[in-house]
Amino acid sequence: MLPGMSFSEKVVLITGGANGFGRATGARLAGEGAHVVLADIEAEAGQEAASEIGAEFIHCDVRDPEASVAAVDFAVEKFGGLDVAFLNAGISTGCGLADTFDLELYRRAMQINLDGVVFGINAAVPAMRRRGGGSIVATASLAGLTAVPFDPIYAANKHGVVGLVRSAGPVYALESIRINGICPGFADTRIIDGFKENLENEGVPIITVEAVVDGIVDLMASDESGVCHFVQAGMDPQEFRFRNIPGPRAAEA
Ligand SMILES: NC(=O)c1ccc[n+]([C@@H]2O[C@H](COP(=O)([O-])OP(=O)(O)OC[C@H]3O[C@@H](n4cnc5c(N)ncnc54)[C@H](O)[C@@H]3O)[C@@H](O)[C@H]2O)c1
Repeated sequence: MLPGMSFSEKVVLITGGANGFGRATGARLAGEGAHVVLADIEAEAGQEAASEIGAEFIHCDVRDPEASVAAVDFAVEKFGGLDVAFLNAGISTGCGLADTFDLELYRRAMQINLDGVVFGINAAVPAMRRRGGGSIVATASLAGLTAVPFDPIYAANKHGVVGLVRSAGPVYALESIRINGICPGFADTRIIDGFKENLENEGVPIITVEAVVDGIVDLMASDESGVCHFVQAGMDPQEFRFRNIPGPRAAEA
């Protein structure tokens, strides 16, 4: 798929598809004629979302590599292949470091937010190879591009997603499989419920879900691979320009 091309008849798998960005992206693409499969750990909300937008639903816990394979197989069996994977399932962390560290919450956040993307790529690539190419978009965050003092574990797993897509993107582009990351700022989904009021009180603009979906869909259709697009309030979604690391210098004689 290249810019301007249609999503009509494309097969799209979306993890974290029961709510928020996943559900809204599914609705947008189903409206454009795509065959959408929503995969989520929340069965009831997922079923409801799927029937509302005209999609299929499969129960999937992205922490389990086999569940990602099963979700891809389900899409292939239903619709004959896989063109787009939106690896988007994610949670807020709920734990800090030292005295606020909780091993269980830490593992859960790393498994869902980072392992889930790794397992999703592993599962999607073989199906896309059979199709002759495809597009994978993983949901990172602005927290993957900057320091987040109030949630360093979230910053760590989202930086992980950014490093992953930047590293894998150029490699799989050789097989016409594009892998990119979307990095939204605070947007109006339930993930910010716990601190939305604080954000509003501090005058932090909250991005609409539709603005994030615009960025996601553009990136899915992009011919780039290994890039991260950020979504910031008041700006069009666009590529984040990373600085190169300094090259090595010859040792002093
Ligand atoms: N809303 C924001 O401000 C914001 C900003 C930047 C990044 N993000 C990221 O966007 C992504 C989507 O979040 P959202 O804001 O739409 O929140 P959301 O809570 O509405 O959606 C997240 C979805 O992920 C699903 N999920 C959680 N654990 C799962 C698991 N183990 N297996 C499968 N599905 C699972 C949830 O059931 C839910 O449907 C996340 O990766 C999140 O970190 C959100």
